[in-house]
Amino acid sequence: MPGKKPPDVDPPLELPKSLPATTSPSSKQRYELTPIYEGLTFERFAYGPFVPHWVPKQYIEGYFPRHGADTALVTRTTVEDISKLQNKGHQHLPRWQLTLRRFNPSIHQDEWWNEEFDAVVLANGHYSVPFVPKVEGLEEYMKRYPGRVIHSKQFRSPSNYEDKKVIVIGNSASGKDISTFLNGHVAYPLYQSRKSPSRWDGDEPPSGISWKPIITKYHQSGEIEFADGSILADVDNVIYCTGYHPSFPFWNTGNNGRPIYSYEEGRINGSYLHTFVRNFHTLAIIGIPRVLTFRSMEYQAIAVARVWAGRNSVPLPPDEEQAKWESDRWDLVKRENRKFHDITWDNGETHDYLQALYNIAGLPQLYGAGRYPPVLNDETRWAINHLKKYPEPKKNEEHGGFILVDRAQKDSLHFI
Ligand SMILES: Cc1cc2nc3c(=O)[nH]c(=O)nc-3n(C[C@H](O)[C@H](O)[C@H](O)COP(=O)(O)OP(=O)(O)OC[C@H]3O[C@@H](n4cnc5c(N)ncnc54)[C@H](O)[C@@H]3O)c2cc1C
Ligand SMILES: NC(=O)c1ccc[n+]([C@@H]2O[C@H](COP(=O)([O-])OP(=O)(O)OC[C@H]3O[C@@H](n4cnc5c(N)ncnc54)[C@H](OP(=O)(O)O)[C@@H]3O)[C@@H](O)[C@H]2O)c1
Repeated sequence: MPGKKPPDVDPPLELPKSLPATTSPSSKQRYELTPIYEGLTFERFAYGPFVPHWVPKQYIEGYFPRHGADTALVTRTTVEDISKLQNKGHQHLPRWQLTLRRFNPSIHQDEWWNEEFDAVVLANGHYSVPFVPKVEGLEEYMKRYPGRVIHSKQFRSPSNYEDKKVIVIGNSASGKDISTFLNGHVAYPLYQSRKSPSRWDGDEPPSGISWKPIITKYHQSGEIEFADGSILADVDNVIYCTGYHPSFPFWNTGNNGRPIYSYEEGRINGSYLHTFVRNFHTLAIIGIPRVLTFRSMEYQAIAVARVWAGRNSVPLPPDEEQAKWESDRWDLVKRENRKFHDITWDNGETHDYLQALYNIAGLPQLYGAGRYPPVLNDETRWAINHLKKYPEPKKNEEHGGFILVDRAQKDSLHFI
């Protein structure tokens, strides 16, 4: 749905009037569609720097049995509603009621039920809902030519595009990756529509690729018009690599008193360190910032676990101070025209953020339970500064499947 935000494209399901209940199965399985495609490599992981996507998959799948946590794990179940329970819980700490749904194949029905929890961690990802910009004629074009326009979340393999006339839209990680994989498979040339240059772009496009400006109009005759007035006809496929939005359809704003996320401002409402949620001391959010991803999530998780277990070494500041952190950050990102949850590496922001989480977590006691936050050692920092997946103009040579640069000047974490 071009130009639409998550509340429109990913609305909550209607809850049954009383629970438990069974209903006819919904087609909405929130865990089914992954954005992973053939050839995708993952950055900054063990055996890296760039490993195939199944390496982190195996790591995650193995994590639960390795730590004996698989007995507590419930899968193939979606959270459809999260509501704060009034007047329940100790010391004014709210408990939560979750409404859950699972497809039961033996009766071919969805089963719904409620469960209560002392605390909730939202870890539902930040790349949930595809974003496609609004363009004149696009919605009608998609209806008239079903399947011709897709988002990178639906892209799987270049083999589906052999000798097809293709336009890739977007010039960030997905646009770069997918156009690189398609180049040579599709009809010559592969068209790439760029809104702005990326840091790996030179003055000329790579061989096999033709750059175009943004698309301004889809004609119902099938022709596609660009901002420079040029037109392409007989296009077989258009692949939008224009990013994602997070989505919180399960958050019950009525029962919880405020929305959890502002889609207009692109930020969690009331967050502290992108992790804790002001006034909701039994709620945490892991994985929202665009930063040194896995490492940051690990620090977030350890800090939250320590706070909730009462084993944190530095207390969380009072709500007023947390509010000041949020408003100071909002002022900063507005001034610098940046996104609230994008944390940059080169100006030291990542260091300060990770350090703050590390300080809250602290070190475990000699005889106590608790996990050590890993350190960001010299080797890791060197890799972040020097290893790239794609060459940049006038920058250094290829080196066994990755690029070695002297020192990245800007946006080292662009791929995360
Ligand atoms: C194409 C692509 C490539 C990427 N490559 C890299 C990379 O190389 N390095 C890197 O560090 N990061 C990369 N990222 C960023 C990546 O999103 C994160 O690193 C990582 O996957 C985030 O983990 P997560 O657990 O927070 O979210 P996700 O991996 O998105 O997992 C969230 C899970 O929650 C489930 N869920 C959502 N809603 C519900 C619900 N209501 N009920 C039940 N379950 C629900 C989803 O189905 C999903 O399984 C990439 C992202 C994309 C899109
Ligand atoms: N590990 C990997 O190899 C890998 C691969 C894919 C994705 N990822 C990760 O996944 C996340 C999402 O990346 P993404 O590339 O999908 O999205 P993204 O980083 O949000 O980039 C969106 C792109 O769409 C462009 N755009 C927006 N509107 C446009 C229009 N009307 N016409 C043409 N272009 C338009 C943007 O241009 P402007 O910048 O000019 O606005 C930008 O280039 C990132 O964190 C990324 O690091 C990682």
